Amino acid sequence: MTMAMVLNCARSSGLLIHSSNNGGGSVIPKGIQLVQQEYALLGIKPTALTVGPGRIRQHTNPFSLALSVPVEIPKWDQIFQDPTLPLTVDIGFGSGRFLLWFAKKFSQSNNYLGIEIRKGLVDRAKLWAMELGLQNIYFMFANATTTFDQLVDSYPGPLIFVSILCPDPYFKKRHHKRRVLQSSLVESIVKNLSPGGKVFIQSDVYEVAIEMRNRFDALFDVFDHVCDQNDDDGCLCDGNGWVLSNPMGLRTEREIHAESEGAKIYRRLYIKKLG
Ligand SMILES: C[S@@+](CC[C@H](N)C(=O)[O-])C[C@H]1O[C@@H](n2cnc3c(N)ncnc32)[C@H](O)[C@@H]1O
Repeated sequence: MTMAMVLNCARSSGLLIHSSNNGGGSVIPKGIQLVQQEYALLGIKPTALTVGPGRIRQHTNPFSLALSVPVEIPKWDQIFQDPTLPLTVDIGFGSGRFLLWFAKKFSQSNNYLGIEIRKGLVDRAKLWAMELGLQNIYFMFANATTTFDQLVDSYPGPLIFVSILCPDPYFKKRHHKRRVLQSSLVESIVKNLSPGGKVFIQSDVYEVAIEMRNRFDALFDVFDHVCDQNDDDGCLCDGNGWVLSNPMGLRTEREIHAESEGAKIYRRLYIKKLG
């Protein structure tokens, strides 16, 4: 594979934020290097970027025709070896490496579900999961805003963790309705999350982070935020209540790129009250 192909793959999958010259004349994609370092445990080769879906779209409209077809609810006992294990759901998983890393680490004790509207990313993530031989992870092509409830409601085990990490900001006001975290999704998370379960949200876009935060802060009878607790789960927060570093101990690709460019990540970690 030539360097030009690597760069094209990186651009089309949103991996490349900026590049640097190594002094020998060749361009080193900094984003790729950082991501590879962070996800080294997976051992996914960079060449795998070209396998499968070919060109991956930069953006997909969540209201597109392809996503308006009702999703088929998975037969969980055919997907997971043990469908009663605690479930973590990552909404808008992007490359999916973040979820793959956890699925590999906790392969015996937890199941993982990723929901994503870019078909190419779903196909590639599925391929990676197969290559890694993981049987506790499932990637779905679906609009999380409209399908989350059906999906998690049908899952036999407890829902213990939901993450929405660096969701697409859809800056234009008329596109705000495309943002993934709408009231219906919040209501479904409240309904389906087990007591003690967690919701982790983050964004490098302040306006988006505030919007998500306001939705969950309003539910103070349902959720505690780690910064408000005495036992703060080991999380450190800044004076404005943003969690200082990723409490999961692993950064997403968007997070790696944003931080490498000096951006602040606004994070909140909510815990559903027990009673
Ligand atoms: C900016 S990327 C972040 C990816 C990943 N979470 C990360 O932090 O690296 C946002 C992702 O959310 C996906 N997305 C947007 N709207 C969605 C929706 N309604 N349902 C599922 N995924 C969605 C996009 O296709 C995109 O891959």
